Amino acid sequence: MDAMQCLLERRSIRSFTDKKIAREDLEKIAKAAIYAPSGMNRQNCIFTVVQNTDIIEGLAECLRIKLNRDKGYNFYKPNALILCSAPRESMHAIEDCAVAMQNIMLAAHSLGVGSVWINQFKGVCDDPIVRTQLSKIGLPEDHLVWGTAALGYASEDAVRNFKKNEEAIKWVE
Ligand SMILES: Cc1cc2nc3c(=O)[nH]c(=O)nc-3n(C[C@H](O)[C@H](O)[C@H](O)COP(=O)(O)O)c2cc1C
Repeated sequence: MDAMQCLLERRSIRSFTDKKIAREDLEKIAKAAIYAPSGMNRQNCIFTVVQNTDIIEGLAECLRIKLNRDKGYNFYKPNALILCSAPRESMHAIEDCAVAMQNIMLAAHSLGVGSVWINQFKGVCDDPIVRTQLSKIGLPEDHLVWGTAALGYASEDAVRNFKKNEEAIKWVE
């Protein structure tokens, strides 16, 4: 898929089918993350790929408890998650994770896989109940999650928001 077409077409998907994402496609999506730019080329983000539904449910449950979400909160029941984390002292942690997130979402779209940014880990990673789950998936203690991609194939009823703010471009001539 042409790069311009990919970035103009990608839209957040919040309703997924049960279809499993093939391992080789998940590997390509994760590879797109490590090819993102990083401040001072530190490349110190970690991209934790989780496809095990029990583990995804465990991660959703700790957020439900911590954030008082109802039992429907489950990252939109994706087939996979990629958690983008960086060391807490890293100067460009947020920016590095954000550009990697965009690479993940665009790579996913190019492969026909839907995605949406999940932001609920931000600010709660050090809560004991959340940290316990993050440690279970091997996240280093000094890492904070700045973005998580929920991934899966779009359901037929998935809503896509196509409206963009064309007024946001200002030309100075
Ligand atoms: C920093 C950031 C945080 C976001 N957090 C969430 C989130 O927690 N849950 C969600 O459903 N969408 C989240 N989104 C997706 C936005 O709602 C979405 O990008 C926006 O509505 C525009 O739609 P589009 O992605 O289809 O262009 C987030 C997006 C960004 C960039």
